[in-house]
Amino acid sequence: MTTTASTRVTVPVIELSNVSREFRMGTHVVTALDGINLIIERGEMVAIIGPSGSGKSTLMNTLGCLDQPSSGSFMLNGQDVSDLSDDQLAETRSRQLGFVFQSYNLLPRETALSNVELPLKYAGGLSGYERRLAARTALDRVGLTERYDHLPMQMSGGEQQRVGIARALVQNPALILADEPTGNLDTNSSAEVIEMLRSLNEQDGKTIVVVTHDTEVAEAMKRIVVFRDGRIVDDRAVVHASADSNDNTTESNQ
Ligand SMILES: Nc1ncnc2c1ncn2[C@@H]1O[C@H](COP(=O)(O)OP(=O)(O)OP(=O)(O)O)[C@@H](O)[C@H]1O
Ligand SMILES: [Mg+2]
Repeated sequence: MTTTASTRVTVPVIELSNVSREFRMGTHVVTALDGINLIIERGEMVAIIGPSGSGKSTLMNTLGCLDQPSSGSFMLNGQDVSDLSDDQLAETRSRQLGFVFQSYNLLPRETALSNVELPLKYAGGLSGYERRLAARTALDRVGLTERYDHLPMQMSGGEQQRVGIARALVQNPALILADEPTGNLDTNSSAEVIEMLRSLNEQDGKTIVVVTHDTEVAEAMKRIVVFRDGRIVDDRAVVHASADSNDNTTESNQ
């Protein structure tokens, strides 16, 4: 990215400065994140890749305001997250972030519509009618108009994950965080989910960060950040054959 502080007109969605996260295990200290500097601008679509244990989920927990750095600063939409109270953190998670999980995390006895409505129930403030309308709109957006009343077990894996994406969208967050969203899916369903994420980025302008082990998922994003031992060891733009990219960074080495 060529943007510098002096030319930047918008605040980055994510700005990590020298972020470290250490876990103390008795006398032993595990450094899960080791001096991470990372800026993600609005409208980016970023894959985070790297071997098991390299710090990807720790990073996502930080970005998702579920965990605080041991040192360094994390600015989310220009706000220092360490300044927020627990209530403000919960509010931020609820209003600004959408989470998509590997195992979908849907309630098995609730319909697609109820599952998508749930974050709105927790947040409060809307009538039942308004909640259902918002949930229907989110399910329509992911192409599940015909599945409102289906239970998770009555849907394919790809459909369940799209319900998961609709649930992440229902409060209209600017940033979507997904940790291995295709980890439980076959190739076709995985392609469905990738297409959905790309469309949310390109059509709706959502900023998207995806942790993945899947090279195809990573290559479908616009930027790939590679972690190893808690550090960023590569950060490159992805050149898509059909895209009008003006970047000429190197090919994948994953
Ligand atoms: N709560 C914790 N307590 C102690 N150590 C932890 C904790 N969470 C993570 N770690 C350690 O931090 C390092 C990074 O873990 P993390 O879960 O971020 O890796 P990952 O890149 O997501 O791996 P995977 O691809 O297997 O999901 C690992 O060595 C892990 O054992
Ligand atoms: Mg992980």
